[in-house]
Amino acid sequence: MSGNQQQVEFWNGAAGDVWVSAQAQLDSALAPLSELVIEAANVVEGERVIDVGCGCGSTTIAMAQRGARVWGVDVSAAMLAKAKERASGLSNITFSETDAATQHYSADHQLIFSRFGVMFFADPVAAFVNLREGLTNEGRLLFVCWQAAIKNDWIMVAGRAVQPFLSASDAIDPNAPGPFAFADSDRIHSILNQSGYADIDISSVTPSLTMGQDLDEAIRLQAQIGPVARVIAELEDDKKGEAIAAARMALGEHQSSTGINLGAAAWIVSAHKQ
Ligand SMILES: C[S@@+](CC[C@H](N)C(=O)[O-])C[C@H]1O[C@@H](n2cnc3c(N)ncnc32)[C@H](O)[C@@H]1O
Repeated sequence: MSGNQQQVEFWNGAAGDVWVSAQAQLDSALAPLSELVIEAANVVEGERVIDVGCGCGSTTIAMAQRGARVWGVDVSAAMLAKAKERASGLSNITFSETDAATQHYSADHQLIFSRFGVMFFADPVAAFVNLREGLTNEGRLLFVCWQAAIKNDWIMVAGRAVQPFLSASDAIDPNAPGPFAFADSDRIHSILNQSGYADIDISSVTPSLTMGQDLDEAIRLQAQIGPVARVIAELEDDKKGEAIAAARMALGEHQSSTGINLGAAAWIVSAHKQ
């Protein structure tokens, strides 16, 4: 298996199905980060934008509603189908099922944008070099990605609770393609620098995310992503129940009148074509 094929399969399997079925809850959880990055994008009427790894289309739609002409590219057929359904009626959106790392782009886009869609490339430098081809000379790059998992309570609170139930796995390469592959800001800087970008700015944002309106909603989502999902896949029924109860108790400590609110840490990264 070569290139991004592993990710293509991953996002056309259970991961894509989870993002489609939990789209509203995930969008609501990610709203504070979305608002920050959409505000930073500050797109204007008629601007041409590529939304990399656009998924179910939330940010594609948000920028199109501000008048930009947005091209959402993604490898997940299921997520794109959801995106198309949600964007029907907006004539300034196009979607393509394609690998963003190798898709040919004409150099007439003012912005390459992504909300959590650029951490999955097998060869990030080659991917960012290719994306740069799509920018005008004054074009800009803007994306949001996660800082280290350890700084993200939205995944770690339940993760720590189920840790004792998980089998010891081989050490994971922290730079391997995946949601936390861009945790190290020096690595992001180096990748973008090598890919021909200048004026690189990497800013930390640490909002609180509402992972569910109540405990049932929060645990339903956690059961489909990250360590709790792994526990469910790996354990026998009785141990599974114990692990989920532990996760439930840990999440319950974060219940407030506004829902289950947990800390997050992300980078907002911006750069210009060199
Ligand atoms: C964490 S999801 C984020 C989706 C969306 N941007 C959002 O914020 O809702 C990551 C997305 O990146 C897409 N993706 C992963 N590798 C890709 C690639 N090489 N080319 C295009 N899309 C890719 C996945 O299919 C998935 O939709």
